Amino acid sequence: MHIGIIQNQPIFGAVEANLQDLESRIRLVNADFIVLPELCTTGYQFVNREEALELGESIPDGPSAQRLMQLAHEKKAWLIAGLAERDGDTAYNSALICGPEGYLGTYRKAHLFDSENDCFSPGNTPFPVFDLPGARVGVMICFDWRFPESMRTMALKGADLVAHPSNLVLPHCPEAMITRCLENRMFAVTADRVGSEERIPGQPLKFIGQSQIVDPDGTVLARASRDLPETIEFEIDPKQARQKSINTRNDLLSNRRTDLYELD
Ligand code: ACM
Repeated sequence: MHIGIIQNQPIFGAVEANLQDLESRIRLVNADFIVLPELCTTGYQFVNREEALELGESIPDGPSAQRLMQLAHEKKAWLIAGLAERDGDTAYNSALICGPEGYLGTYRKAHLFDSENDCFSPGNTPFPVFDLPGARVGVMICFDWRFPESMRTMALKGADLVAHPSNLVLPHCPEAMITRCLENRMFAVTADRVGSEERIPGQPLKFIGQSQIVDPDGTVLARASRDLPETIEFEIDPKQARQKSINTRNDLLSNRRTDLYELD
């Protein structure tokens, strides 16, 4: 499976310009599985719910989702892209999942970060896993990484790989994803952005880049820069993630002591 990650630098609210930039980068990438960042067509720092509703679009019927689906069709690729979603009077921080034959599903971010709580409603789509040819793919968005239950849930549902559209502002995620991959023996494909925004006065955000692919042994296969838009391509064998044993006695899923854990 040829993975492609696009690390972009959107201009807040300039949806058409951001889509054109993404489109030219997608056309150049040599990959059959492409991950784009969180809120990749709108920018990140919404100031309130009204703005999120105004810039939010229907998935899959809105123009941004339709354009990305057309590109996935032309490239004969699977594509996962973070988008601001409007569903009636509700705004979600969502991801579109589509492939060569069209729409596959939507994931709505479960764990909203900081001011996102003023703009979006928390997700109501249990962490989905899509059975694609060659890989079972789970989806989470950015701050979901901070909750180990997110990726564990997808591991228990059989995911080989998590697609992770992000707009990272805290420094820890790139290294922490190594642990998430070791815990679950899964691949993680994190697509981040670069640049900065300060749309809420006094709350400047600098996005940390470092989009990356990590394998089930915790090896960082490829990592982008901290400050430049960039495309990463890497070939992986997702089936490596199906071996959950780390020696003859230890299997990361069947050794779990669910009789001792108290997770609720
Ligand atoms: C984040 O969840 N975008 C920090």
